[in-house]
Amino acid sequence: MCGIIGYAGTEKAAPLILDGLKRLEYRGYDSAGIATVSDNELQIKKDQGKIDEINNELTLSDMNGNTGIGHTRWATHGAPSQNNAHPHTDNENKIAVVHNGIIENYSELREFLVGEGYEFQSETDTEVIPHLVDHFMNQGKKFEDAVRNTAARLEGSYALAITFVGEPGKLVIVREQSPLIVGLGADESLVASDIPAILPHTKRVIILDDGEMGVLTAGNVEITRVESGETVEKEIQEVDWSPEMAEKGGHPHFMLKEILEQPDAIQNTLRVPEGELGELSKILEKADHIYLVACGTSHHAALVGKYALAKLADVSAEAIISSEFQESCVPKEGDVVFAISQSGETADTLKAVRVAIENGAKVVSLTNVVGSSITRLSELSCLTRAGPEIGVAATKTFVSQITYLLLLAFHMARKRGQISGEEFNDMANQLRGLPDITREVLDEVNTQTKKIGEEYTDIKRGYFIGRGIGFPTAMEGSLKLKEIAYVHSGAYPAGELKHGPLALVEPGTLVIALVTPGPARERMIGNIEEVRARGGKVLTLAPEGDKEVKEHVEEVISLPQVLEILSPLVYVLPLQLLAYHMGVDRGHDPDKPRHLAKSVTVE
Ligand code: F6R
Repeated sequence: MCGIIGYAGTEKAAPLILDGLKRLEYRGYDSAGIATVSDNELQIKKDQGKIDEINNELTLSDMNGNTGIGHTRWATHGAPSQNNAHPHTDNENKIAVVHNGIIENYSELREFLVGEGYEFQSETDTEVIPHLVDHFMNQGKKFEDAVRNTAARLEGSYALAITFVGEPGKLVIVREQSPLIVGLGADESLVASDIPAILPHTKRVIILDDGEMGVLTAGNVEITRVESGETVEKEIQEVDWSPEMAEKGGHPHFMLKEILEQPDAIQNTLRVPEGELGELSKILEKADHIYLVACGTSHHAALVGKYALAKLADVSAEAIISSEFQESCVPKEGDVVFAISQSGETADTLKAVRVAIENGAKVVSLTNVVGSSITRLSELSCLTRAGPEIGVAATKTFVSQITYLLLLAFHMARKRGQISGEEFNDMANQLRGLPDITREVLDEVNTQTKKIGEEYTDIKRGYFIGRGIGFPTAMEGSLKLKEIAYVHSGAYPAGELKHGPLALVEPGTLVIALVTPGPARERMIGNIEEVRARGGKVLTLAPEGDKEVKEHVEEVISLPQVLEILSPLVYVLPLQLLAYHMGVDRGHDPDKPRHLAKSVTVE
């Protein structure tokens, strides 16, 4: 997805912006560029490709000036190309704009501007913006007023950072439905679409709200409402992420670093304030209908949450994929939409949230990013405390989401008298033991999964089976294998095999079976036998000490005995590592899987 970084200060802007762009690479992009203002001249360098390649070719860091903006683009309107890369300018090269989001009325604006004599250089929706700013400046408006007038004409979502040669030390920024934060330094001001980009400079940030704009100069920031021009007093927040936390910490890839950080992510999420769980439970208890709305990995966490709420607390909730919400659900007043999204910016989930609000339903959310768009639309926003997740594939945010949802289910179960105080304490204590248990599991299975991955070099497809709470974990293993190793895969409730998927099994077909603790174990062994009878090769995940399972399969990954309800937190670990090692073995970059992006901000 697109990323923005901008700088107004006393240092040379281009190297700082280049560094910021690299920190935004994890969002996924296809082109990048920088604009700086110096000696009454706008310098622009941009191209399609990776930042390092563009820098090698164009030496971005050589650009002069103490003010500048940079952008990583993920194509929406117009293919990846140099012309379509940001920044975009007006025809006289005075105004430069970087933009995240989508301008919905750009065709109409483009037609108007062409009528006014403007010539377009790109196919993007963004290019209407510098021309509109120029149009208003030609009518005698000052730079920031021209931006204000421009914003008033735009429909859709936009985070903007804009420079103008006539006011070299200034950046004007605007936010509407696309995140933008301001970083405050001693004699410098920064703007970025997300926090890691500015971490080396400052931890003091202001989070812009929709409909706000800012004027940034060296060490000074003024925020106003776009519509009224009124000054807004913003809270300054301290971010507790160190730049090192956002870097690889000595591991070859962010994905591996983040897989290994999962015990800490669980530990930190366990620190959720009891009052927050109480408040959330109250809202859910009063709901006529609960929708757990999420996409991808977050949807798998939602499925675990649905299972835990039903089985432990007798609370029924529907886990629905966000993009299907508006197609298949009819939210009403009295209903609660519980949005689950690590980024808090996923367009499909945001859309579901907006649909819910329009229909009078309440929205609560669970995200990993303070101040994200979904949190801002929520009546109650709850936080997983996984720390920044840079790898495109969700790993530590998944276990954090599950940890949070389990805590919630325990809390509601106790409150509703579904479990005794003793049972509650037992489950809560076992959950508190999970950071240590998962640390040991990661130590043990890293080498084993690497070896298994090497054995599977020629595998072209693999199927995952599980039952009960093992099924969402199987789905997550399958998703990871697809996105990181590019191996075709599917996940099925094991009982469904005989209703169709079994036809896919032939000698040598890989089936990964999750034998989770609990009453379904016997039936899982039966399903494994169904596969073996057709020549399938079964890799089984099973509790250590389960000798019987070992007799039935070729290869077992033994995992510690934990409560069935806690098993997703343990069983997902070897599946993530297997996908990681298989991806690396096949020469893929696990941090940036092809065609995917970290923050999916289009529907
Ligand atoms: C898979 C993955 C995606 C995300 C999905 C939702 O590894 O990362 O499937 O889980 O795009 O993203 P969030 O949680 O940010 O809403």
